[in-house]
Amino acid sequence: MKADEVKKVAVIGCGIMGSGIVEVVARSGADVTFVEISDEKVERGRKTVEKSTQKAVEKGKLSEEDRRAILDRITGTTDIADAADADLVIEAATEDLPTKIEVFAKLEELTRAEVVLATNTSSLPIAELAAATERPDRILGMHFFNPPPIMKLLELVQGLETSEETIEFARAYGLRLGNSTVLSKDRAGFIVNFLLVPYMNSAVSLVEQGFATREDIDTAVTLGLGHPMGPLTLLDLVGLDTALYISNVLYDEFKDPLYAAPTLLKRMVAAGYLGRKSGRGFYDYSK
Ligand code: CAA
Repeated sequence: MKADEVKKVAVIGCGIMGSGIVEVVARSGADVTFVEISDEKVERGRKTVEKSTQKAVEKGKLSEEDRRAILDRITGTTDIADAADADLVIEAATEDLPTKIEVFAKLEELTRAEVVLATNTSSLPIAELAAATERPDRILGMHFFNPPPIMKLLELVQGLETSEETIEFARAYGLRLGNSTVLSKDRAGFIVNFLLVPYMNSAVSLVEQGFATREDIDTAVTLGLGHPMGPLTLLDLVGLDTALYISNVLYDEFKDPLYAAPTLLKRMVAAGYLGRKSGRGFYDYSK
């Protein structure tokens, strides 16, 4: 299949990343069906897209008419069988290997054999997901960045058995979404998180050791390095639980202390300080 022949896309999971991917795909003109695990999560996913597109209208990036058309192209469901007629599937379920393997095994049964099954995983091995299917040549990573409607990078990850044809399809599809693509082989962290995790962990260590305040660390990076946000604000955006999970995956893969999560990060996650999504992380978002 050619990228411009994709008419319907299924997105599995409609959390922070899934909802952003749903929005980006619907904006490109395709119909999107997203799959969630409960009616409440379907409703929450839809609301997230409504709010984000509303913001785009307010910022003058989208007309109200186009917003309506985008929302009309989106359907939420709790039944993964509704993904059966998709021309492309992008999985953005919880970052947990057994969950993702189960999803890929179901998608293998449900979807046409020629359909590409992509995962938005930030760090898990593509090879493990490919092994849950009979089409390892059509499995790859399509890693979007948070927030997907704004961030223009799509990191493609080529598993051991992913074909060149699948990579070319994903490159062309990324362009159709308005993204630039980069290609990484299948090892933990790919390109961006391999670089990002030690940086974010080091920022947490600076706080933990009392070397600098969270505000000064973030100010130093925004003004001194020109980043749009500092590492602790970024951790709150990504989600501390997600950052911890990715850090653990990288540590497991490389056994290098560079990737070991700082104790403060672990304790904050245990205490429910997950960042923006829980109302509290390094900063307070409850008001
Ligand atoms: N659709 C389209 N455009 C939108 C939009 C929407 N829903 N909402 C906002 N925009 C536009 C705005 O109009 C604005 O455009 P201009 O610059 O042309 O004016 C731009 O997007 C920025 O929006 P805001 O002014 O609302 O927000 P901001 O300036 O405070 O920036 C931010 C917010 C984009 C998140 C910025 O702070 C940023 O880039 N932060 C870094 C984010 C980052 O590093 N993400 C990667 C995280 S790591 C990851 O995702 C990988 C992983 O696996 C962990």
